[in-house]
Amino acid sequence: MRDVTVDNITDVFTGYFGKDTDPRTREIMISLAQHLHDFTREVNLTHDEWRKGLSMLEHAGRITTPERNEFVLFSDVLGLSSLVDMMHSKPDATSSSVLGPFHVSNPPPLAIGGDMKRDFEGPVLLVEGQVRDTDGNAIPGAQIDIWQTAPNGMYSSQDPDQDIHSFHGLMTADDNGEFCFTTVRPVSYTVPSDGPVGELLEAAGRHPWRPSHLHYIATAPGFRSLVTEVFPDDDPYLDEDTVFGVRKDLVMTYHTRPATEFPDGLALSGSVIEPFLYVKFDLILSIDDDT
Ligand code: BEZ
Ligand code: FE
Repeated sequence: MRDVTVDNITDVFTGYFGKDTDPRTREIMISLAQHLHDFTREVNLTHDEWRKGLSMLEHAGRITTPERNEFVLFSDVLGLSSLVDMMHSKPDATSSSVLGPFHVSNPPPLAIGGDMKRDFEGPVLLVEGQVRDTDGNAIPGAQIDIWQTAPNGMYSSQDPDQDIHSFHGLMTADDNGEFCFTTVRPVSYTVPSDGPVGELLEAAGRHPWRPSHLHYIATAPGFRSLVTEVFPDDDPYLDEDTVFGVRKDLVMTYHTRPATEFPDGLALSGSVIEPFLYVKFDLILSIDDDT
């Protein structure tokens, strides 16, 4: 085709597609081109603006490492990660939410009743929960991978002063699907904003803050893995999470309890002398219908 125009370029693109291409790939790529071309025409994109967009992508490529993926961060702050999550969440299960870049592989085992706070300053938070299926049955032995920030707002992989396993733990729920651990109250923090994603936030007049949260990945054979995070209802950024991760069912309430009510049999029993925070939050898994 030598008569390519502003109006027919999408059809020409479609016509160049090979006959034996995978139908789903074809559907996605043609739709992507359609939307990209429509967007370009709609905003009357200039050469300078087009170059700026490409240079942001090029910058993202330059600073992306196995520990920091700027493309995923673009997807997060543009709401794409959350949109995909929400479209594929099961209605009766706990909502999924963004994984983020700070999960570590091979987290250290954390016994039921174990502690992640160690010597870090801040209020003790006692977390209890149960892993259940969508019919309300306990899922014995479910695994819960837990991680969060330190009180300085940094994850272990961002902070040379923490060992890589700090505030990470892998717990196996008991025969009744129950789990329990102590930690320090997580804090609100900012997503990395020293790269092109920071530029985008700045240009949009947006802040880089996320409300404080605990991350979980809950898994059990025969169930869909649940990647999620849970947020306290008193966090100032709850209604303006820069990565759009908050869902109604992921909001929880911390209750302040006197030290005398701290239960026996946990790693910190006997050493809690100030009021502590308590929360119970259950995780509901849906059957894995792909198996
Ligand atoms: C996080 O929650 O750890 C996170 C999620 C998305 C982007 C950056 C951080
Ligand atoms: Fe996080």
